[in-house]
Amino acid sequence: MRVLVTGSAGFIGSHVVEALEEAGYHVTGFDLRKGQDVRDAAALDRVLPGVEAVVHQAAKVGLGVDVADLPEYTSVNAYGTAVLLAAMAGHGIGRLVLASSMVVYGEGDYECPRHGRARPGPRAVTDLAQGRFEPRCPRCGSSVAPVTIGEDAPADPRNAYATTKLAQEHLAANWARETGGTAVALRYHNVYGPRMPRDTPYSGVAAIFRSALEAGRAPRVFEDGRQRRDFVHVRDVARANVAALSGGAPGSLATYNIASGEPHTVGEMAAALASERGGPDPVLTGEYRLGDVRHIVASPGRAAGELGFRARTTFAEGMKEFAEAPLA
Ligand code: UD1
Repeated sequence: MRVLVTGSAGFIGSHVVEALEEAGYHVTGFDLRKGQDVRDAAALDRVLPGVEAVVHQAAKVGLGVDVADLPEYTSVNAYGTAVLLAAMAGHGIGRLVLASSMVVYGEGDYECPRHGRARPGPRAVTDLAQGRFEPRCPRCGSSVAPVTIGEDAPADPRNAYATTKLAQEHLAANWARETGGTAVALRYHNVYGPRMPRDTPYSGVAAIFRSALEAGRAPRVFEDGRQRRDFVHVRDVARANVAALSGGAPGSLATYNIASGEPHTVGEMAAALASERGGPDPVLTGEYRLGDVRHIVASPGRAAGELGFRARTTFAEGMKEFAEAPLA
C-alpha cells in the first residue's frame, strides 16, 4: 500500500517514514523542506495519484509565543488540513492518520474528595505567585488529585496550537462523515528522542533541557518540579502511526492517547538527563508560566485495546539514549 506522509522530513515524520517502510509500506514523503506545502492543492495533486492513505504530520508545532502567531497556526494547521482533506476526497483516498496532541485537553483530569471528577480552569496568578501550584476543585476550592485522562474528556484548548490541533480533528471528522473515509487522530503526549529539534521559543521541555545540558548549562525546572507529564519515545509514536493505519472505522474519527503509560515529573526528567550526561545538576527555579497546565497524564488503554499499541521504550532506557542522541 502506498502512503503519503506529510511532514516527512520533520522530527516525528522522519521516524514515521522509517517505521512504515520497515512494516512494508511504500512511502511518498511530502515536506516543506522539499518545497512542498500542504496548503498548495496543486502540489498535492502531483503526489496523490496512487496513494491509498495519508499520514498527516506536517504542522506548525509548539504552543505559540503570543497572539501574533494566531494567523500562522491557523493557516498551516487548520487551513492546510482542510486543503489536504479536500484533495484526498478529490483523489478518492479513504484513510487518514492525523497527528493530534494532548494539548487539546488543556488541564488534566482530577479527583476532588467531595465532588468527584473535576477539570479545573486556569490557575490563579495569586496562587502561582505564592507557590501554590496544584489546581483546586472548581466547585469547593479543595485540593484535587491528578488522575489519568481518557479520550472522551471534554476538550479545553488554551492556545493557538491546541486550538488548531482540535480544529484538525473536527475537520477530519467532517471529512470522514462526508466521504465515508476512516480517520484516526493520535493525541501525542510529550514526544522525545533522537533528531528532536534543538531549543527554540517553541520547544517542549525535553528539548530545552537536553539543549541546555549539551551547552553545559543546568536545566531550569519551573514550579516545584512535581508537575507530571507522559514522556513517550518517538519510535513508539512512529509504531503507533503504523498501527493506526489498520484502525478506525469508515465514516468516523477515532481518537487515541499515544502515551507511555509511565508518567514522570518534569523534575525527574531533568534529573535523569543530567545524571546520564554527568551534570550540571538541574536548578529548581520556582518560576511559572501562566499558560502551563499542571499535570497531564493519559490513559493509554484505548490505543492498547483497539490498535494493539503499547509503548515499548521505558523512561529509563529512553532518557539514557536521549541524553546522548543527536538533536536536529
Ligand atoms: C508540550 C508541547 C506541546 C505538545 C505537548 C505534547 C511545547 C511548548 N509544548 O506541552 O506543543 O503538544 O507537549 O507533546 O512545545 N518547563 C520547565 N523548564 C523549562 C520549560 C518548561 O520546567 O525550561 C516545564 C513547564 O513549566 C511545564 C512542563 O515543563 O510544567 C512542560 O512544558 P512544555 O514541554 O513546554 O509544555 P507541555 O504542556 O508539556
